[in-house]
Amino acid sequence: MLRAQGTDVYVADIDEDGAAAVVAAASQGRGLSGRHDLATVDGPRQAVDAAISAFGRLDALVVCAGFLVEAELSDIAILDWERTIATNLRAPFPPGPGRC
Ligand SMILES: NC(=O)c1ccc[n+]([C@@H]2O[C@H](COP(=O)([O-])OP(=O)(O)OC[C@H]3O[C@@H](n4cnc5c(N)ncnc54)[C@H](O)[C@@H]3O)[C@@H](O)[C@H]2O)c1
Repeated sequence: MLRAQGTDVYVADIDEDGAAAVVAAASQGRGLSGRHDLATVDGPRQAVDAAISAFGRLDALVVCAGFLVEAELSDIAILDWERTIATNLRAPFPPGPGRC
């Protein structure tokens, strides 16, 4: 929708093929994508840097990467819990000076 309005869009997703498919269609705005694991400490910063590097500036973020384990709370493995928190909660937290 944004590209149809002429906006350049950088799609950052851990699913490289999926992200590429999102921007594959021709549109008014340019579309680029890259593989970024937003659950890592440096992932969000690297995604932002890649977008700025691609288009020269960044005006807005749509933070919609999400990780959801559908299981009883008692059955959720600790690594899945940590990935959930890292992806859904930490990744959108804006990195300040010295934090990233
Ligand atoms: N779809 C809904 O109706 C709905 C409703 C309420 C909340 N949500 C929440 O919104 C978020 C997005 O929902 P959706 O339906 O678009 O889900 P989705 O599964 O279609 O998309 C999530 C995207 O996040 C990407 N992703 C997952 N982990 C990542 C990581 N570590 N780094 C980078 N990318 C990663 C996935 O590859 C996928 O492309 C989820 O957290 C979901 O729980 C969705």
